[in-house]
Amino acid sequence: MENAIYKAKQFDLSGLKGISDKTLEMHFKLYEGYVKATNDLHARIGEILADGKVDQEEMPAYSELTRRLGFEYNGMVLHEYYFGNMKKQGGGDPPRGSFRDAVGRSFPSFEIWKTDFTSVAKMRGVGWSIAYLDPNTGRVSNHWIELHESGNVAGFVPLLVMDVWEHAFLLDYKPADRPKYIEAFMANVDWNVVEQRCQTTASASRAA
Ligand SMILES: [Fe+2]
Repeated sequence: MENAIYKAKQFDLSGLKGISDKTLEMHFKLYEGYVKATNDLHARIGEILADGKVDQEEMPAYSELTRRLGFEYNGMVLHEYYFGNMKKQGGGDPPRGSFRDAVGRSFPSFEIWKTDFTSVAKMRGVGWSIAYLDPNTGRVSNHWIELHESGNVAGFVPLLVMDVWEHAFLLDYKPADRPKYIEAFMANVDWNVVEQRCQTTASASRAA
């Protein structure tokens, strides 16, 4: 059995608009921390399970480690979605296609979807704004995710993921200037990736 199940991915994002390379470097390091923590949790849980049972005295440690899986796993995966949906020379409006159609089925207009998505990102607290696709209905809904793990909907597919933890922008903007960071994020969105995530989900649900 392999111990290091996950490897940190590499993202080439230098030269974004309004999000400095310095911020990204620091953010990649944080992300690598989540990958390491996820692997470590697996290894430690595996050690407890190695003799085929969880003894009563092991239960507190086992429980604590298992409870942390949601935090570390989502911390790892959401950062991969986040870095993966930005690019140099991104931004603008999404091209016509599955994503625009799905938004059109779910909101009165693209502009209103965008107002909702960016307003979720302005909510007080530490977390994420995520546009999810419900693969069963083909509808898009925007969700506030507290920390990394509270509010994700099982089976829904993240299409566009924005980190609004303060570490995502504190080197570039003051805490009170989160709206400026949100604007910068939107100016770097890779809409082709969002479109691909939407199309992949649509064809998988047709095949099911
Ligand atoms: Fe982050």
